[in-house]
This record gives sequence, C-alpha cells and structure tokens, in this order.
Amino acid sequence: MGTLDGRVVLVTGAARGQGEQEARLFAAEGARVVLADVLDDAGATLAKELGEERAVYVHLDVTREDDWAAAVTVARERFGKIDGLVNNAGILRFNELLSTPLEEFQAIVSVNQTGCFLGIRTVAPEIAAAGGGTIVNTASYTGLTGMAGVGAYAASKHAVLGLTRVAALELAAKGIRVNAVCPGAIDTPMSNPEGVDPAATAELYRRLVPLGRIGRPDEVAALALFLTGEDSAYITGQPFVIDGGWLAGVSLF
Ligand SMILES: NC(=O)c1ccc[n+]([C@@H]2O[C@H](COP(=O)([O-])OP(=O)(O)OC[C@H]3O[C@@H](n4cnc5c(N)ncnc54)[C@H](O)[C@@H]3O)[C@@H](O)[C@H]2O)c1
Repeated sequence: MGTLDGRVVLVTGAARGQGEQEARLFAAEGARVVLADVLDDAGATLAKELGEERAVYVHLDVTREDDWAAAVTVARERFGKIDGLVNNAGILRFNELLSTPLEEFQAIVSVNQTGCFLGIRTVAPEIAAAGGGTIVNTASYTGLTGMAGVGAYAASKHAVLGLTRVAALELAAKGIRVNAVCPGAIDTPMSNPEGVDPAATAELYRRLVPLGRIGRPDEVAALALFLTGEDSAYITGQPFVIDGGWLAGVSLF
C-alpha cells in the first residue's frame, strides 16, 4: 500500500533535480504522475522508465496558459482526473539588483511566480472536481529571508509564499490544501550547473549549514510527499523550511 494510492499528481519541472525525485517517489508511493517540463527528452525518458501505467510526460512551459490547458487535457485523458499539483519548476540567475536587466527580472518572475499562479488557477478547479486534494508550491529559503545576489529570485519566492497563503484560504472550502516547501541549498543542476565535484564544496557547506552538508533532492521529495499525502491532512497555508538548519540563526562555533 502506497501513501498516494489512487492519486494523480502533476509535477512541473519534473525532468530533473527535485521535480524528478518528487515524480519518482510519488510513483513509488502509488500515484500516477503527470511529468511536466520544457526538457522534453529527459522528461519523456523518465516517463518511459516509470512506465505508462504510472507516468505520462507533457511539454509544459509554466509561463504559457495554453500549455497548462493542454497538460490538464492529457491528464484527464490518461488518468481521468488530477487531484494533486506540485509547482516545482523554477529558474535562478545571479545578479546584484543594480545590475539586473529588466528582461532577466521579468523572466524569473514569469517562471517562478506567474508559473505558480497559472498552475494554481488552472489545476485547482480540476482538483476540486475530483473531490479535493493538494497543491505544493516550491518557494525557497530565500522566500523567507534575503540573500545578496539573487534579488529577482528572492522576490519571486517571497511571492510564492503569498500565493500559497491566499490560495490556502480561498481553496480550503473546496477541499484543497496548499502548502510550500522552502529548500535551502540542495544538490541539483540549479545549485551546481557546472557539475562540480561535491567534494570541492563540501567544506563550504560544512561551515555554512548547521547539519554540515548540502541537502539532497530526495529529501525535498520526502517533504513534498508528506504535504501531498494524508499525513498532513490538517495542515494548509504553511511554508516548510528544509535547509539543514541554515535559517535557524547565526552560529559562531
Ligand atoms: N537547488 C536548490 O538549492 C534550490 C533551493 C531552493 C529552492 N529551489 C527551487 O526548487 C525548484 C526545483 O529546483 P531544482 O534545484 O530541482 O532545479 P533544476 O534546475 O535542477 O530543475 C528545475 C526544472 O524546472 C524546469 N523548468 C525551468 N523553466 C521551466 C518552465 N518555464 N516551464 C517548465 N519547466 C521549467 C527545468 O527544465 C528543470 O527540469 C525550483 O523552483 C527552485 O527554485 C531549489
């Protein structure tokens, strides 16, 4: 018996990183999973590996309303409903505010913030029609505090928490719970685009993070599973920090 038996969950940004681990774990826990991404080859390969009973891949650029509508149609046709959404797709760019081009700021907001809004707006009616379910948004450590060099990203992730709280209030009566994960540093292509050997950054994370290491995407997936399953049945509207203690405060030791 899986935690998500009978559920149908759409995961955005599912081709790699945290989204991939969420898709793998949800499928292993009995869900049928709609894998959505713009990385079509990787997404389709993962769907094939999980098997057509369990998974389908859709091309979904989260900034495009028509892509969202098409993804919902595919989910309905293949699995009959959607009762879970993980808004996971996101992009990160490093720039100080004073040197951030408008196009870059808008691109980050478009994917991280508008994409999350469109996901809620498109999928929540489907979840309501299915009798209720869950939405898990992906914010960040930087949705709760600042970090120099990622102003546009931090702004978009603060906005994701605003959306999470308002959606939780507005959708509770429809039987939909809405929560957010707030990861710290997690070992994915986003945090390590050059594929640097983890040994090279181990000392940095040992000093920076109280638990002494970078997080793993499967650890974030486990939190998303908790927030999608019945174990969190009385929880909605909340940000959940998963950061190895980074946000707990400053330590001089
Ligand atoms: N890795 C970290 O340290 C970290 C920390 C905090 C929050 N996050 C957040 O977690 C989420 C997942 O990040 P990750 O680390 O797995 O990154 P990643 O770059 O490995 O994966 C992100 C996925 O999103 C997809 N994506 C990007 N733009 C898209 C779009 N317009 N439409 C659909 N899909 C799109 C990418 O193709 C990719 O598959 C993001 O929202 C990110 O902001 C990551």
